Amino acid sequence: MTTAWPYPTIVAHRGGGKLAPENTLAAIDVGAKYGHTMIEFDAKLSQDQQIFLLHDDTLDRTSNGWGVAGELSWDKLQQLDAGSWFSNQFQHEPLPLLSDVAQRCAQHGMMANIEIKPTRGTERETGATVALAARELWHGQTAPLLSSFSYDALDAAMQAAPELPRGLLLDEWDDNWQQMTDGLACTSIHLNYKLLTPERTAALKAAGLRILVYTVNQPQRARELLSWGVDAICTDRIDTLGPDFV
Ligand code: G3P
Ligand code: MG
Repeated sequence: MTTAWPYPTIVAHRGGGKLAPENTLAAIDVGAKYGHTMIEFDAKLSQDQQIFLLHDDTLDRTSNGWGVAGELSWDKLQQLDAGSWFSNQFQHEPLPLLSDVAQRCAQHGMMANIEIKPTRGTERETGATVALAARELWHGQTAPLLSSFSYDALDAAMQAAPELPRGLLLDEWDDNWQQMTDGLACTSIHLNYKLLTPERTAALKAAGLRILVYTVNQPQRARELLSWGVDAICTDRIDTLGPDFV
């Protein structure tokens, strides 16, 4: 049986793709400006259990801070500038809390793919904390799609909030995909698009899984993947792969 899938075909990667500082409220606004109705973003825990957005383990690449982000308290993290590295236009853009992101998504009428990106060693804690918060923050709206490369994080999310849909992320092909997606009662599998073939697509679909692929930036490639039966395309090219693409 194929589980209900309320999500659109095009998903804006990290909020605003490459057109704004990733994983910020400003990025979400840029995604909305281009008409997107769903965004993907990366969530992790601060040292004092606050859920905020950041892709890397460390702060160095996308903020004016440094070191492992999950080792700092929110009090410290909230003072950082997560926009200047991208351009002066986004100076003083802060790291956002998941609660602020939920509010901004609701304002824009956007759906969410929350990628659980735990700091090493905090997989289960992060999975459970994010799932419980997501249940509260998106109450009454389209359920956010939870995804992770971490089996343990998704397993903890399933124990905490089983009703929220889950997608297993794979950056390398794993022949145990069915065992893993069954074990996590996944709605979807989220793959590096380079892993996919028409045959693999057919096998995943036959198992009842929805398929999201990342990060597809060429329209021609997106069309080919959709013709194979892929359900969603996560893109950085939020301008050329807009919501009207399909
Ligand atoms: O969730 C899709 C994609 O974001 C996974 O890779 O490294 O961009 O978080 P990454
Ligand atoms: Mg991600």
